[in-house]
Parts: sequence; C-alpha cells; structure tokens
Amino acid sequence: MKFNILFISLLIFLILSTFQQEYEGLNEDIKILTEENYEQIIKETEVVVVAFFSPWDEKSKELQPNFDRVSHMIEKNEKFVLSVLNCQDNKPICDQNEIETFPAIRVFKNGEFFEDYTGSTEWLDLLAYFTKIQYPRVLKISSLDDIYHYSSKLPFSIFYMFEEEPDQEMMEIMEKNSRNHLLKHVMFGTITGDLNSEIAKNLSITSLPSMIFYRIVDSEFIITPFESINDINTTQFVQENQFAIIEPLTRQNFKYLFIRKTPLAVFFLDYKSDLSTLDKLKSIAKYWNSSKLTFVWAEQSSFGRFGEFFGTSTFPCLVIVEEFNQRSIYYRMEKEFTEEEINSFIKDYIEGKLETSSKSEPIPESNDGIIKKLVFSQWNEMITLSDKEILLIIYTPDYNNSRLFDTVEKLAKKLEDENLLIFSVNALKNDFGKEIALNQIPAIFFYKQNDKENPIEYAGEDLTEELLESFYLKAKQEKQEEEKQEEKQEEKQKEKKEKEDL
Ligand SMILES: *[C@@H]1O[C@H](CO)[C@@H](O)[C@H](O)[C@H]1NC(C)=O
Ligand SMILES: *[C@@H]1O[C@H](CO)[C@@H](O)[C@H](O)[C@H]1NC(C)=O
Ligand SMILES: *[C@@H]1O[C@H](CO)[C@@H](O)[C@H](O)[C@H]1NC(C)=O
Ligand SMILES: *[C@@H]1O[C@H](CO)[C@@H](O)[C@H](O)[C@H]1NC(C)=O
Repeated sequence: MKFNILFISLLIFLILSTFQQEYEGLNEDIKILTEENYEQIIKETEVVVVAFFSPWDEKSKELQPNFDRVSHMIEKNEKFVLSVLNCQDNKPICDQNEIETFPAIRVFKNGEFFEDYTGSTEWLDLLAYFTKIQYPRVLKISSLDDIYHYSSKLPFSIFYMFEEEPDQEMMEIMEKNSRNHLLKHVMFGTITGDLNSEIAKNLSITSLPSMIFYRIVDSEFIITPFESINDINTTQFVQENQFAIIEPLTRQNFKYLFIRKTPLAVFFLDYKSDLSTLDKLKSIAKYWNSSKLTFVWAEQSSFGRFGEFFGTSTFPCLVIVEEFNQRSIYYRMEKEFTEEEINSFIKDYIEGKLETSSKSEPIPESNDGIIKKLVFSQWNEMITLSDKEILLIIYTPDYNNSRLFDTVEKLAKKLEDENLLIFSVNALKNDFGKEIALNQIPAIFFYKQNDKENPIEYAGEDLTEELLESFYLKAKQEKQEEEKQEEKQEEKQKEKKEKEDL
C-alpha cells in the first residue's frame, strides 16, 4: 500500500493553515442569502447549507472564522452551496424557519428542509459534515473506481459488501450508523457483488458479507467478515482502528499522542523525497506492533524545531521519546538509517539496552561574564560537584529575554561578594531531562551550597529585581532553616543518646 500523496499534501496544508488564525472576512465561496435570492437558491440547488446568524450574537461571531476557513477548503461543486443569512436584515425568512437560537446551521436538499446541524463548530467537524451531507447517508457503490473515489472524501470509510441487495432493515441500521455523531468522519456505503467481482478480487475479500474499513491516512483497507450486520459494533470498531500503523504527527494529535501510554517512536522525514521510505517504515511499524511503541512520522519542514529538541541534525532519523512533558527522556538513533539498523535499534530499546540521549553545546572557550554559560556536558563539574550556591537560568533564545537577563544581572552585581555562581542554559541546545523537571521556560532554579539534588524553583509569574532578590534570600534561608532543624534533630538525638548512655 502506498501512502496517499494527495492526502499528505492536505495534511501539510492543515498543519500550516492552523497557524493562520486570522479571520479574513466573508468570501466568494460563501453565498449571502437575502429575501431576493433565498427561495431561488434553496429551490434550484441540490444541497444548501444555511448558517442563520445575527450580527450581534457572540456565538455567531465565533462561528464565522471557522465557517470561512471550511468554505475555502471544501471541494467546489455546483450542486452544493454554503451560505449565510443575516436574521437582522431578513427577519421574515428567519421567522418562517422558526430560528430561535444563533447561529443555526440548517441543511436543505432539493428545496426541502433536510436536517439541522447539531455538532460542534470546530472547523474539522464542519468540514467533515459539509462533505458528508452532499452524499446519500449510505452510498451505493457499483465499481472499484467508486470505492477509490468516495473513500478519498473523509478520513474513514466503511462499505458493507453483500452478495444480495440488503433489505430495508439492514439499510436502516447502516443509515443509523451514518447519522451517529461518533461516526461523523466516516463515509458509509453498500456494495452488492460476489467473490468473483472486481471489487472482491482487488481487496482480497474471501468471505461475504464483509465490512470494508478504509483509513485514508495510510491508505489501509481492513476487511472484516460478519454474519449479521447486527453483530458489528461499528463505533467500537472505528475507535479501535482509527490510528494508522504509523500515524502522521499533526498539531491536532500532538498533545493526544503524548498522553498515550506507550512511548513514541518518531521518524522525522521529508515526505516529498521520502515516500518510499515511508512505505518501508510502515512495514517496520507493522512488524513491531503498537503494543510497546506508538509509531509516528513527523514532516521535517513542519516539525523540524521539535526534532531539534531531541538533537536531530540529519534526516531522515528516528527518536524514541519516553517522556516529553516535564522531563525529556529520549533515545536518538545515531546509526545509519537502514531497515536493519532501525530494527536493531528498536529491539535494543525494547530490551532496555539503550542509554538515554542528550544534547549539549560545545564547551565555551571563555566564560567569565557575571552570568556564565552552562552547557550540558559540564553539568556534573559545574553543578553537581560545585561547592557554591547556584542560580540557574533556563531559557530558549526565541523569546525576548533581555528583561530576564537584565534583572538577573542587576541582582548579580548587587550580590557580587556572595558565594554565588549564576549560570544560564540554552534549553534548545542542551538538555538535562534526567536532572531537572521543567514546568515552564524560562525557569530559574536555586541550588544550595551543599545540596545539588533539591533545587528550589522560582514560581512567580512576574520578574523584578525585588522579587528575584526576595526569592533568593528566602530560598537561602529556607535551606539554612532546614539545615538548622536537621542540626537540632541531630543534637537532640545526641543528647538523648548521651542520657541513655548515662
Ligand atoms: C486494486 O485497484 C487499484 C486501483 O485501480 C490498483 O491500483 C491496485 O493495484 C489494485 N490491486 C490489486 C491487488 O489488484
Ligand atoms: C458499541 O461500542 C461503543 C464504544 O465502545 C459503546 O459505547 C456502545 O455501548 C457499544 N454498543 C453496543 C450496542 O454494544
Ligand atoms: C505482533 O503481533 C503479532 C500478532 O499479534 C505477533 O504474532 C507478533 O509476534 C508481534 N510482533 C512483535 C515483534 O511483537
Ligand atoms: C526586548 O524587550 C526589551 C524590553 O523588555 C525592549 O526594550 C526591546 O526592544 C525588545 N527587543 C526586541 C527585539 O523586541
């Protein structure tokens, strides 16, 4: 099976377009309905979606940018019109439609009311709905071409194949599935044919009836024979099979993938030059199963920065990420990117034979500023083994850090005679996942002279010289008090022991 290049292009478009949040105003892809054209458009168009809105209504305003974005993305088609109607200016039409809350999205088919949309106004949901509503609830598929044509419309498709025309009762079950909001991203259809038909042969169907599930993201067909359509729980089936063998990383699934229980095996690659690589990776992912690892591929041009976080520099490459949120624990494959090396890397990982990776900038040649530069390879020497107090500033260079450094520098000058070293670490070029858990960046940590295991984090949202100084003094004192407590405890123990000895 080949990865679908059209789909991948769409995906990249989606990734990129999520950055363009601004609303650009109504456009020619959306028809504006008025009393003059309403009747005619509804009557003469096969499928019309009307968003009834009020210009003063907050929810209508929220819908607008999503509606607009979807109108640009949906396939152009004469038989389908996406429209808006301002109820302020066209009250009689809205009264006639008994519109009570805004916005109301209503579908008309062949001049008649069809249904109201009750789903979310998220643009991906709207896109799926406006696509699906253009077709019958359950398509009649009559050729192999139909299968490939219709299954490219939504993320998933389900075609039930029977030897004989399904009866009314079966059709109703299929239509009910199609209406199920949990299956809104699924296109439904039926096929009538025998095992000698072109469709059965092409999809290697060996038993009828069968359910054909198609997942667009990796062009995978899953064939499931069944006895009675009543026996299949379609919702459950889709939930279990929705993820690709190797799932593309997107802005939408990014967070979700990281909270799944299994570590991620992330392949970074340039999909345009690497489509054949992607197919090879798919067979590797298939072999290793998803029980121990979730396989993901990330488009280098969109997720290159993410890759840098794991010290990747050449592409394609593989990183296994165990934890990303607070501590970065990961394993970067350094060997040549061949099937054999990838398999042996994964095998070693599963058997616990790999060392975690890290990255570090080179050791700076001179380092005598008031704020010194720390690189990861010097962590032990500079932090763990140091007998000084340490203030550690963790930052990323893509923010404007001038205020942060100004503030720290001022404090440093004020405290110059103290037994204190101040270090800054560029978090993009160095990591210390096993050493420290980060909740935010930039972050400031204080390390006491003789305790480099338990740093205290600066938790304030704002940063001024006064706040930082008071944090420093308090942290220092806290530690001293802890020590005093410990000393006292020890003394007490000692006294107790002495008494007992007497
Ligand atoms: C099935 O049909 C598709 C599209 O026509 C074709 O590309 C593919 O090679 C066929 N597969 C088999 C196994 O016949
Ligand atoms: C089908 O599966 C879904 C999701 O797993 C579940 O919520 C539902 O109750 C199941 N339906 C039936 C009829 O078993
Ligand atoms: C993957 O799963 C199949 C079937 O469950 C099993 O036979 C196979 O050994 C698994 N592969 C690995 C590498 O665990
Ligand atoms: C960074 O912030 C400082 C003040 O906080 C400001 O003076 C400076 O112009 C900013 N620099 C850039 C490049 O935005």
